[in-house]
Formats: sequence, C-alpha cells, structure tokens
Amino acid sequence: MKIDLRYETINDYAGIKNVNDLAFEQADEGLLIEKLRLNPDFINKLSIVAESNDKLVGHILFFPIKIQNDSKKHESLALAPMSVLPDFQNKGIGGQLITKGLEIAKEFGFKSVIVLGHKDYYPKFGFLPASSWRIKAPFDVPDEVFMAIELVSDGLKDVSGIVKYPKEFEEVS
Ligand SMILES: CC(C)(COP(=O)(O)OP(=O)(O)OC[C@H]1O[C@@H](n2cnc3c(N)ncnc32)[C@H](O)[C@@H]1OP(=O)(O)O)[C@@H](O)C(=O)NCCC(=O)NCCS
Repeated sequence: MKIDLRYETINDYAGIKNVNDLAFEQADEGLLIEKLRLNPDFINKLSIVAESNDKLVGHILFFPIKIQNDSKKHESLALAPMSVLPDFQNKGIGGQLITKGLEIAKEFGFKSVIVLGHKDYYPKFGFLPASSWRIKAPFDVPDEVFMAIELVSDGLKDVSGIVKYPKEFEEVS
C-alpha cells in the first residue's frame, strides 16, 4: 500500500479529527489537537498526516514541552496523540509516521522526544523508559509506559526532571 506522508494544512483539520475520533473511539484527542493548534507553540510541520489514495488514514503530532528540575529547563517534544484509522492499522502506517516525525523533529533542532504510550510499541523505534534519564511524568504512571528517545547522540545527557506539558493536555482525560 502506498502511503504519502506530509505535514498538515487547514484542509486536513476535519480528516485529522475523524482519524482520532475513530482510532481512540472518543472525541478527546481530536479536541486536544484543535486546542493545541491555538497555542503559539504549535508547529504545523510537526503535525504529520498519512494518506492512502488521497484519504487521510493516519496522524501524528509532536508538541514542544519542557523537562524541568530545580536548576534547569530543557526543550523537548511530546509525541501525542497519534492515530491510524482502525481499518488501516497493523500495516506499518504508524511506524512510518513515527520514523518520519522523528526525522523532521531532528531537522527542527529538537534533541529528544517523550511519549506516554504502549510499552511494546514505541521501543521498536528506540524509545526507552524515561526513568533511564531520571525524567519523570507529572502524574502517576507505570515506569514502562513513559518513554523517551534521543534524536542526537547524548541528546538527553545531563537532562533530568519533570515533564511539563502545556495546559491543554491537562484538560484531556
Ligand atoms: C497505536 C497505533 C497508532 C499504531 O498504528 P499502526 O499503523 O497500527 O502501527 P504499525 O502498523 O506501525 O504497528 C503495528 C504494531 O503495533 C502494535 N500495537 C498496536 N496497538 C497496540 C497496543 N495497544 N499495545 C501494544 N502494541 C500495539 C501491533 O501489535 C503491531 O505489532 P507488530 O508490528 O509486532 O505486529 C494504532 O493502533 C492506533 O491508532 N491505535 C488507537 C489509538 C492509540 O492507541 N494511539 C496511541 C496512543 S499511545
């Protein structure tokens, strides 16, 4: 199956909401994306869509966050949310979105990405428990589902602390 990957435009907003609604079987993630678009930190080139025959079948968003401790603040990215239409899952589209997204994030100069997600999925792309770097979630979560990846060598060297998500994430269950 030929999949085209590109960043979102205004014409994709409804398609992105549709993919999220159907993949998550709820409206929260689609609404979160709509709120995040209004945040000045939103980078539309880090909101990537997957198309098959001109149909929007997958989406991934990377949003700037901070990893903060008492003395330092580091820029990073949250991978969230990501979704693939149920009929198109398990065909490698999610993997293509992650690989492409990490590549673009690196081009933008980001050095790391954080994800809260399926413990057996993201490690396939190199994610490790964020605790390996003493990076913690701002909420209680099992160690193995809160993960990080370095986009460049030593991208998280000497980085530790608590991840600060933008307020829009707190409004979503
Ligand atoms: C997670 C998701 C984006 C993956 O997209 P995809 O295109 O199906 O992914 P790929 O085809 O690249 O990879 C499929 C692999 O993911 C695994 N996978 C899918 N959902 C999973 C889950 N909930 N837990 C663990 N692994 C999962 C499959 O078992 C499969 O593994 P395999 O390669 O060893 O066979 C998609 O399943 C989805 O939209 N799910 C609903 C929304 C969601 O959970 N989003 C992620 C939030 S962290």
